[in-house]
Amino acid sequence: MKSIYFITGNKGKVAEAENKFSELNIEIIQKDVGYPEIQAINLEDVALYGAEHIQKRISHPFIIEDAGLFIDNLNGFPGVYSSYVYHTIGCRGILRLMENFKDGDRKAVFRSVFAFAISDDKPRLFIGECFGKISVAEKGDHGFGYDPIFIADGKSKTFAQIETSEKNKISHRGKSLDKLIDFFKNI
Ligand code: IMP
Repeated sequence: MKSIYFITGNKGKVAEAENKFSELNIEIIQKDVGYPEIQAINLEDVALYGAEHIQKRISHPFIIEDAGLFIDNLNGFPGVYSSYVYHTIGCRGILRLMENFKDGDRKAVFRSVFAFAISDDKPRLFIGECFGKISVAEKGDHGFGYDPIFIADGKSKTFAQIETSEKNKISHRGKSLDKLIDFFKNI
């Protein structure tokens, strides 16, 4: 396999994948072609449905990813609605919702699910998680999405305050990509 399509409109995700894929001899080609994202209660179902839909249209090997931010004290919100919430109330809205939450009540986890599919084979899923907390203010201008308000466990900076390669060492997507890359190394 010489190249793989990454079907996404998100350049930030592509940059993170390219950073990890640099250790493989596989080129990532971004395709922003869109696919249905079903309303489900977990990311795995969203990724699987999307991958099976794309398989009907594209014969080249491809990956897609679905990610979300799950905040403990908001019962996992925004979770599978992360994209919608980001585009409506954004980071500022999340901070406002959590205005009265003390430090110990700000726990959150980022989850990432990659689906890889080739021809008619059942798509394979690769999952990564990163535990941390929601900051009290937006900080930093790297990355994308909720990066300015997420601080990984053991760190003092938000994801938006660190370089992509640093984020990739600890992030949900870094972990799911590591699993995907291990899989590619073994096929
Ligand atoms: P989706 O996987 O593109 O549906 O992502 C859902 C939402 O979570 C989007 O609004 C993204 O911006 C946000 N998101 C996903 N991954 C990350 C990340 O690594 N950092 C910050 N926000 C993210």
